[in-house]
Amino acid sequence: MLSYQHIYHAANFADVQKHALLAQVLKSLAVKPAPLCAFDTHAGRGLYALEDTEAQKNREFDNGITALWPLRAEAPPALRPYLDVVSALNPDGTLSFYPGSAMLCRQMLRAADRLIATERHPGEFGHLQQAMAKGAASAKPRIQTLLGDGLKTLVDTLPVTERRALAVIDPSYEMKTDYADVPKAILRALKKMPQLCVFLWYPMLGAGGHRLMLTELVKSGVRDALVSEIRLDAPPQEHFRMTGSGILIINPPWPEAVMNDVTQAVTSRLPAKAFGDVFWLDNCRINPDTGLIVI
Ligand SMILES: C[S@@+](CC[C@H](N)C(=O)[O-])C[C@H]1O[C@@H](n2cnc3c(N)ncnc32)[C@H](O)[C@@H]1O
Repeated sequence: MLSYQHIYHAANFADVQKHALLAQVLKSLAVKPAPLCAFDTHAGRGLYALEDTEAQKNREFDNGITALWPLRAEAPPALRPYLDVVSALNPDGTLSFYPGSAMLCRQMLRAADRLIATERHPGEFGHLQQAMAKGAASAKPRIQTLLGDGLKTLVDTLPVTERRALAVIDPSYEMKTDYADVPKAILRALKKMPQLCVFLWYPMLGAGGHRLMLTELVKSGVRDALVSEIRLDAPPQEHFRMTGSGILIINPPWPEAVMNDVTQAVTSRLPAKAFGDVFWLDNCRINPDTGLIVI
């Protein structure tokens, strides 16, 4: 039984990194007129009310959106597409609502585009449906919300009639098997649609599951894979074991400079001391002694 609820972590530093980069990807993919099909395989609830008790419990957003929100009027280009969406959801200037990946897609995709958002937790799925239905009359892309396994939906649905597709893969990694299932699904998806832009989030934890996952992808010969990692300097607290956050983009729609700029713009403004790193997975070698990639 899944118990993870993203609202406890909404808008923290990892969300800011993830969503600022996702907004840049969506902005770039919208430049070409050809329609796009976006999958949000682990959609969560789509929209997060930061005043809710769950979000207030640890206030993780204080080391996240709270630090960037004051920049919205004169945001640096790296953060502008992201902060524009957050601002649109908070028109009175008070930061109350935070967009998850599905809402970012909903706000930035166009009429000819399509969004397939899957969520496995029934409670979270109910929230997602409500969020996606809000303002439905003005909703631009066609939206399908599905209750179930997002990785299976992705692999089963590809290839799509649109010749361009994006897969946002943002698991909670509650199940240890996620670390093996995710690279498997990515490889199967790329086999069905090699031009697919894959956008994967992973937590950096002491156990190093993310390293195994990246190693699997390197061993399988995945190319054109760019990584952004943000590490926190302070030791993790009891309730917050994550020491860093990573985003892997396969077939990125822009050059490395965009990844650098966003990573830098986020790390330099967080209240907690943090370090950003950007590298190509293509350049990582495997250590023959450990069998793991060297970063
Ligand atoms: C990190 S949260 C997603 C946050 C969201 N993508 C965002 O940016 O706001 C992960 C979500 O995936 C859901 N989940 C876990 N396994 C899943 C699966 N196999 N398919 C679809 N959803 C899953 C969890 O219930 C949880 O809501």
